[in-house]
Amino acid sequence: MLLALVVVSIALWSSGCAVDLSFPPGFLFGSATSAYQVEGAWNVSDKGESIWDRFTHSQSGNEDGSTGDVATDSYHQWERDMEVAANLSLDYYRFSLSWTRILPNGFANYISEDGKRYYNQLIDGLLAKGIQPVVTIYHWDLPQRLQDLGKLSLSNQLVWYEASTEEDEVWLDIAQQYSYGRFSHPIYSKEGGWPPVIEDHMRNKSSSEGFHQSRLPEFTDEEKELVKGTFDFYAINHYTSRAVRKRRPGEPHGGFPLTGAPDLDLLFERRPDWTEGNEWLYIYPEGLRRMLGWLRDQYGDIPILITENGFSTAEDSLEDHDRVQYYRRYLEQVLLAIKEDGVNVIGYTAWSLIDNFEWMDGYKTKFGLCHVNFSDPLRTRTLRRSGRFYADVIKRRTLDLDSDYRNYEF
Ligand code: FCB
Repeated sequence: MLLALVVVSIALWSSGCAVDLSFPPGFLFGSATSAYQVEGAWNVSDKGESIWDRFTHSQSGNEDGSTGDVATDSYHQWERDMEVAANLSLDYYRFSLSWTRILPNGFANYISEDGKRYYNQLIDGLLAKGIQPVVTIYHWDLPQRLQDLGKLSLSNQLVWYEASTEEDEVWLDIAQQYSYGRFSHPIYSKEGGWPPVIEDHMRNKSSSEGFHQSRLPEFTDEEKELVKGTFDFYAINHYTSRAVRKRRPGEPHGGFPLTGAPDLDLLFERRPDWTEGNEWLYIYPEGLRRMLGWLRDQYGDIPILITENGFSTAEDSLEDHDRVQYYRRYLEQVLLAIKEDGVNVIGYTAWSLIDNFEWMDGYKTKFGLCHVNFSDPLRTRTLRRSGRFYADVIKRRTLDLDSDYRNYEF
């Protein structure tokens, strides 16, 4: 009995005192959505067609035929979203501009008055509630007209990579530089350009494939100078982690970023000690802390804004204990990164404010702090337990909440 008491008190001491669970002054809390995932109204007024409109309307679209034609109807119901954001006491709300709502044909020679009106009212509505608008210029809904001309691609770093076993440590640097460095080194490093390890690898690989020059076009010195340092902060979307190992002969290649990197001949897997979440979303909160530390080690003391982090479920429940636990554990790692490792994290964005159209998963996968009833034409919004938890964290600026939130374990 005495031993049990001692063990219990050590456990309490270590969970209660080891980490200061309060957020630093000025730390910002937000939540996010994106245009195609919530707005609906895909063809109202003079809005043009995006690649997601084209895709979801085609035979090869989502298996269950789901589209973003109505989604959460935020084009009409945006004031409900503002109410949810205000209920959570968000410091900021991150949303994206639908390119084809503002520039219906993709180009700036014609600007939609309705598009301007919609986003102006959204921005004014947020400001009236004391919530800062954080605008994403592009969130995957490219104008179909531009897709027809060629393809664009931007980065989205969802995954932290670790070595599968000690022997796989040798593959880690190249996997990380391929995943994060490719998009960050040109902007955030002192020298600019591609990460040297990736530049060398791609030059050798291209030559072994019979190319006369690298498939990764080199930066000129002038381009390096032009791009280097062009940032205000670093934005990171993070959800999950993967263990990296060399692909064995005969094994399938896998696909980037969740199951492999064919160009590197590496495979990505779940480490057995990581909890399985919904589908691809394995839970490893320390991965976020390590990711933040990696960015600081590589690029110095840059301000980092976590622009997405969140947890999906297949069921609709309002009592989403798993999501509460995910947020609590990941936010704790953010605090450790700030307080123990000295990383300059300036804010945290929960994905997502409300359930919405989750790309290829349609409406099967839920990420919302707030439930949306998709059978109701009004798309009624109801705050989940995770929404109440997040609101409490924001109001009290700490994870040290004297409530039952802590008792839920995976
Ligand atoms: C991110 C996307 C976001 C949502 C989450 C789960 O990559 O930016 O729209 O799909 O994943």
